[in-house]
Amino acid sequence: MQMKQQFGLIGYPIKHSLSPWIHDEFMRRCGIEGEYRLFEIDPIESFSEQIKQLKQRALRGFNVTVPYKQTIIPYLDELDNTAEKIGAVNTVLNRNGRWIGFNTDGIGYVRSLHAQFPQLFEDKSKKVLLLGAGGAARGIYYALMDNGFHAIDMANRTMQHAMSITKLKNKQMHTAILSLEEAEQMTHHYDVIIQSTSVGMKPKSDQSIITPPRLKKGCIVSDIVYQPIMTSFLKQAHSLGANIHHGHTMLLYQAQYAFECWTDKNVSIDKMDMIIQRMLEGR
Ligand code: ATR
Repeated sequence: MQMKQQFGLIGYPIKHSLSPWIHDEFMRRCGIEGEYRLFEIDPIESFSEQIKQLKQRALRGFNVTVPYKQTIIPYLDELDNTAEKIGAVNTVLNRNGRWIGFNTDGIGYVRSLHAQFPQLFEDKSKKVLLLGAGGAARGIYYALMDNGFHAIDMANRTMQHAMSITKLKNKQMHTAILSLEEAEQMTHHYDVIIQSTSVGMKPKSDQSIITPPRLKKGCIVSDIVYQPIMTSFLKQAHSLGANIHHGHTMLLYQAQYAFECWTDKNVSIDKMDMIIQRMLEGR
């Protein structure tokens, strides 16, 4: 009899994580016998000790979320190229006892954008505005660049943080750094606007990083926040006629790529976005 494959998630707090549902569904769709468990690591406990115990569990792979995406790195045997560039890991594969770190956030984000707007990828000179300069922004900037987009401006409250992300840029890339106030006045210049911070997340769902006064016709406006599904920022964009891209789709596609790292299987997301949307709306 084949042993059940073990997967999991480390982070804090993670009690309400949707990852167990997502990965259980992936396993069902692929006919893999396994389980995905939550390993909540309280920041007051010793991380090294917790990781030692996790190592003994011989998981096939696990995800890493806040606040451990950087803390985990010294415990890994290898980093894939993207994770190394981003300097953060959200997925670990156990390959014969060696832990290999990946970062699926940026690639997952780009996959989710492609799934909804494939035509966007036919013209990589489209102008992108990325709002925020945290870990998520770093992953998204790198993945969009890796996909050939080369006109990505960045706006952030602390402009220095955005500046440090541009160290990732290749020779083709043009990036202007703007203040949030400047970005707000420029929104109509962009084909895609991506909100990559946690601003607007429940319970502060009335907040919005900027208030776009106008948008270019056909503009895609995206928010990685998925609680609520329709953020205040997306509501404003919708009222200005934008095409909306919701944050929960990134959650699904980063998980899809993580599952691929562990199992080599490319599982379909079909209908999962609708189901997860309903689950989130019921919360
Ligand atoms: P991460 O993306 O690493 O998970 P985060 O805390 O969700 O981290 O987001 C960090 C980003 O959100 C940063 O761009 C941060 O701006 P600063 O670089 O100026 O700190 C931005 N951010 C967080 N709270 C904000 C707020 N109230 N207004 C504007 N930007 C904010």
